[in-house]
Amino acid sequence: MAHYAHIIGWGMAVPHRVVTNHELAQFVETSDEWIVTRTGIRERRIAGPYESTATLSIAASEEALAVAGISPRDVDLILVATVTPEHLFPSTACLVQDALGATKAGAFDLLAGCSGFIYALHIAAAAIRSGMHQVALVIGAETLSRIVNWRDRNTCVLFGDGAGAVVLKGSDMPGGILASMIRADGSGAELLIIPAGGSRFPISESAVRDGCHFIRMNGREVFRFATRVMEKATREVVAQAGLRLEDVDLIIPHQANIRIIETAAKGLGLPMDRFFVNIDRYGNTSAASIPIALCEAVQQRRLNPGDRAVMVAFGAGLTWAAAVVQWGAPQARLRPPWLERLKRITLYLPAQLHSRLMRFWRHLDARLSRILRQQGE
Ligand code: ACO
Repeated sequence: MAHYAHIIGWGMAVPHRVVTNHELAQFVETSDEWIVTRTGIRERRIAGPYESTATLSIAASEEALAVAGISPRDVDLILVATVTPEHLFPSTACLVQDALGATKAGAFDLLAGCSGFIYALHIAAAAIRSGMHQVALVIGAETLSRIVNWRDRNTCVLFGDGAGAVVLKGSDMPGGILASMIRADGSGAELLIIPAGGSRFPISESAVRDGCHFIRMNGREVFRFATRVMEKATREVVAQAGLRLEDVDLIIPHQANIRIIETAAKGLGLPMDRFFVNIDRYGNTSAASIPIALCEAVQQRRLNPGDRAVMVAFGAGLTWAAAVVQWGAPQARLRPPWLERLKRITLYLPAQLHSRLMRFWRHLDARLSRILRQQGE
């Protein structure tokens, strides 16, 4: 039985299409100045007609598996945290399992709003530590552009699409997920909701006419709740890990609003440079926001071997969650940037050719990861 659950691979995928605040201001009554000062968002990625929560999940997972040097056949648990699943059923996780060829994995979706990725990480780490599973793929993925009302300026300026994934593996080497917590308060369910489309209010002509199939949000109340729990959850999880705030090298907060992050920083008495922020380029990607930020923190070398990071999120439910991770993956596993660029170019090719090249890429990448790992050891 492994005593620790380590993140050994990570990957992200975002749509190519960038939509700036200026573009939004052409069809909804808003301005770049309002959005930047109230939220910190400058642009977001929006899925194209052939992109969906599953395709983004698959692309992020392929990258994470390649970094880990793990074959999909070795994965025995797949969790997709999302509020925008491909369908109500089957689960998006099953579609990802099939596309990857993860023939020995159980797969399910998890719905906990923007806290979903940390919820899934919490469950996967516990399953690995208990010995029930050996290798887990944990994904946070969203295509929120499909559920926002593009005429509602209160919500449409906030959200974006994308996916991030990590591979978790058991080990006896101390480190990995040091502590995690999940919480919920369903009394705030109405503050952030899609009223129709479930069993309570099935989709109907009148539901669509009234826009009840889109996100509805009480922004001010969600803001108040978020600033309260971000600080509280961070303190709680750091104490649970037996650490002090000074021991934390980086905080990766849910990217919903820069003012929420600044308020949390002030409450914790930490400088803003201790927080990883990329909200300006992606907006709020809900369950995908933390794994995307994690990948970029590694790429930018803000998270290095031995560092301790706190991931903390809040979201619909209401939910909140936090985790402390001791980063263990040696930097040698980072692949040369030209390989990444080459991979991105293949996305412009016809689907069949792209998928063939991706298979070749996976093979090449796994070999390269193995060589780099041997060199690093
Ligand atoms: N452009 C211009 N004006 C706008 C816009 C816009 N896009 N949106 C709202 N306004 C107007 C409002 O109508 C209001 O006008 P009024 O005073 O004439 O009524 C004014 O701006 C101020 O509105 P507030 O709601 O007070 O603005 P606030 O400073 O609170 O910012 C915001 C709103 C950005 C939504 C903020 O409340 C917030 O970030 N809340 C948290 C939201 C969040 O994190 N949601 C995600 C949860 S996670 C999940 O699970 C999906």
